[in-house]
Amino acid sequence: MKIVSIIGARPQIIKAAALSRAIRQYFSDELTEIIIHTGQHYDSNMSDIFFDELQIPKPHYNLQVGSDSHARQTAQMMLKIEEVLCVENPDFVVVYGDTNSTLAAAITASKLHIPIAHIEAGLRSFNKTMPEEINRILCDHCSTLLFTPTKKGLENLLKEGFSKENNKPFTADNPGIFLCGDVMYDNNLYYREKAIEKSKILNALKLENEPFVLCTIHRAENTDNAKRLTTLFETILEIAQQQKIVVPLHPRTNKLLDIKLEKTLLQHLTNNKNIILTEPVSFFDMLALEHNAQLIMTDSGGVQKEAYFFKKPSLILRNETEWTEIIDAGTAQIVDTNKEKIVAIWKFFSAHPPSNFPSIFGDGAAAQFICKTILSNKH
Ligand code: UD1
Ligand code: UDP
Repeated sequence: MKIVSIIGARPQIIKAAALSRAIRQYFSDELTEIIIHTGQHYDSNMSDIFFDELQIPKPHYNLQVGSDSHARQTAQMMLKIEEVLCVENPDFVVVYGDTNSTLAAAITASKLHIPIAHIEAGLRSFNKTMPEEINRILCDHCSTLLFTPTKKGLENLLKEGFSKENNKPFTADNPGIFLCGDVMYDNNLYYREKAIEKSKILNALKLENEPFVLCTIHRAENTDNAKRLTTLFETILEIAQQQKIVVPLHPRTNKLLDIKLEKTLLQHLTNNKNIILTEPVSFFDMLALEHNAQLIMTDSGGVQKEAYFFKKPSLILRNETEWTEIIDAGTAQIVDTNKEKIVAIWKFFSAHPPSNFPSIFGDGAAAQFICKTILSNKH
C-alpha cells in the first residue's frame, strides 16, 4: 500500500517522525511512504534540523512554496500537490494538524478522490477567527479516517455528526473516527531520554542549576497585534525581575518584534540579563528546556502538551485552548495576554507546582495504531 504524507510546518515535521518510525519498525513490508514537504517552513532551524535529528526520511518532493498571504500560499500548494498526487496516485494521503499545508493537501486530495487520513482530528478552539480552526474543520469534513488524540476531540467530532458506528470500508461519505492517542506523546516517550542526554543547551545558555521559565509566542493573534505583543513582552520583563526566562523566537515573532514594539521596550528586553532571546532551537534542545523549566508560558499547541508530558505547569497565552483536558487537570491555566493574571498564576504555580498529571494522550503507540488502521482499509 502506498501513502503520501504531506507536511510543511515545524510541528508537522516533528509529528511525521512518529509515523515514519512506526512504518520503518513494523510495517515496511506492507506500507510505502512518500513524503511531500510543501516548503511552508524553510529556514534550516524550522525544517532541516528536524529531519536530521529525528531521522525522518528526506522528502521525496519539496514544493518550496514559502511564505505568502493565506490564499496565495494555499493556492500555490494546491497546484503543486495536485501535480505530485497525479504522478504518485497513492492509496491514502496523510495530513497532520491544522496548518495551511494541511488544508491545501486535504482539498487537493479530496478533489482527486484520494482518501485522506487526518492525524490530530477533532480538535476545536471554537474561534473561527483563528486560521487553524477553519483549516481543521474543513480537513476533518473531507477525511476518510479521522485519528483524534483525546476524548474531547472525539466528543467534538460526534457533535459535528460523525459516527462511531460506521463500518468498513470507510470513505469520505462513511468516515471512520478513532480515538488513538497523540503521536506527539509517542515522540516524547521515544526521544525524551536521548534528548536530555544529548542536548547541550542548558550549558550553552548557562542555565544549569538555575530555575527558569520557558516561553514561546508565535500565534498570529499575539504577534500581529501590537498591543497584545507589547503586553506579553512587558510581562516577560516583569518576570525577569525575579527569574530567568528563555524565549526561543519563532521567525514570525522575531520579525514582528522590530515592527510592533516600541524601541525602548525592545532595548530593555535585549539588555536584560535574565531574558534569553534565542533563535528557534532543535527538538532535542526544546525537550531539554521543557524538562528543566520550572514553568512554561506558551501560545503553542504542541508546547502546551509537552509541558504536560514533562509534568510542568503551563500558562496558555491565548483566550482558549483545544487541549481542555490539561485545564481540567489543573496543571495549566488560560491567561490570555492579561499581565496581572500571568504574574499571579506564575507566582501561584511556582509556590504550588501541580503533581497530578493523569493520562490523557494515550499509551505512546498512536502511530502504530494509525498505520494498522490505514492498512486495514485497503479497498
Ligand atoms: C504556521 C501555522 C500555525 C502553526 C505554526 C507552527 C498556518 C496558518 N499557521 O504558522 O498553525 O502553529 O506554523 O510553527 O498554517 N517564516 C520564516 N521562516 C520560516 C517560516 C516562516 O521567516 O521558515 C516567517 C515568514 O515571515 C512568514 C511568517 O514566519 O511570513 C509566518 O509563517 P507561516 O508559515 O505563514 O505561519 P506561522 O506563523 O509559521
Ligand atoms: N519546538 C522546537 N523548537 C523551538 C520551538 C518549538 O523544536 O524553538 C517544537 C516543540 O517542542 C513542539 C513543536 O515545535 O514539538 C511545536 O511547534 P509550534 O509551537 O511551532 O507549533 P504548534 O504546535 O503551535 O502548531
